[in-house]
Amino acid sequence: MSVFDKPFNSDRDAALVTGAGNGIGLAIAQALVGEGVRTIFADLSEEKVAAAIASSAHPELAVPWVGDLASREGCEALLAHARSTLGCVTHFVHSAAPARREADHVLAVSDETWERMRAVNVDAGFRLARGLARSLIAVREPGSFLIITSLHAGTPRNLPHYSTSKAALAMLVKELAKTLGRFGIRVNALVPGAIAAGGFVADPSLERHIPLGRLGRSTDLAPMALAVLSNRISGYVTGAAFVVDGGLSLTNWFDPSALDDL
Ligand SMILES: NC(=O)c1ccc[n+]([C@@H]2O[C@H](COP(=O)([O-])OP(=O)(O)OC[C@H]3O[C@@H](n4cnc5c(N)ncnc54)[C@H](O)[C@@H]3O)[C@@H](O)[C@H]2O)c1
Repeated sequence: MSVFDKPFNSDRDAALVTGAGNGIGLAIAQALVGEGVRTIFADLSEEKVAAAIASSAHPELAVPWVGDLASREGCEALLAHARSTLGCVTHFVHSAAPARREADHVLAVSDETWERMRAVNVDAGFRLARGLARSLIAVREPGSFLIITSLHAGTPRNLPHYSTSKAALAMLVKELAKTLGRFGIRVNALVPGAIAAGGFVADPSLERHIPLGRLGRSTDLAPMALAVLSNRISGYVTGAAFVVDGGLSLTNWFDPSALDDL
């Protein structure tokens, strides 16, 4: 059998994807149901969840959840919904994030915007991962979690609420991975570059900084997400960060060499 055959066990595996109504979360949730994995599509927008499920390869494997993950109650409601619809969630993807607005720089961002960004990224990521891990540990099942961070976990983005919450998430991945490894629960980060997916209004001039020559698409992320989520493919990988950026992070303020002599 090829190493890429049956990356998931559709009898046992079940997934929960936050931010599944749009962009990267949508692409990963659709890819999971495409692999036969029962998957909760969780998002703030009922309309987006319905459209994401309707355009999936296997809508019958998709379970909708609509709610606000910025609150503790929202996270608890999602965990309860997961237990009642899927039983034990073995694969968790945290992709939800509020919109990023260029106007929200250091001197302008409101307290409310700052707190909401942290609440959806960090607090919800932690509460959901901990709740799902507790359920897996109780039934002694392994699991695999994937948290979507950003290149701006390490470099400023002119959006302090966003970059600081992504930096916190990058450390959360490591804390979770270190503690949960003994229970067979792996936790990794997926680090997108400039992905024209909805949450980021891409300036086409960015392309000249991307060695692979184009902005990313959400479907560029989904295959790597599945590979890292799969215990069959990545069973010995935890606490790692996988950059999918077409080489954008290789860039700096020097333009590439001219290479006129070739
Ligand atoms: N697009 C990029 O270039 C890029 C780059 C680096 C990292 N990321 C990260 O990838 C993830 C997905 O990005 P995207 O561009 O696909 O985003 P997006 O804005 O297209 O999708 C995010 C989804 O999260 C949902 N959401 C927002 N707040 C929520 C809440 N309180 N409760 C429940 N759902 C909520 C939104 O409704 C939306 O459907 C984010 O975590 C983002 O920070 C994106």
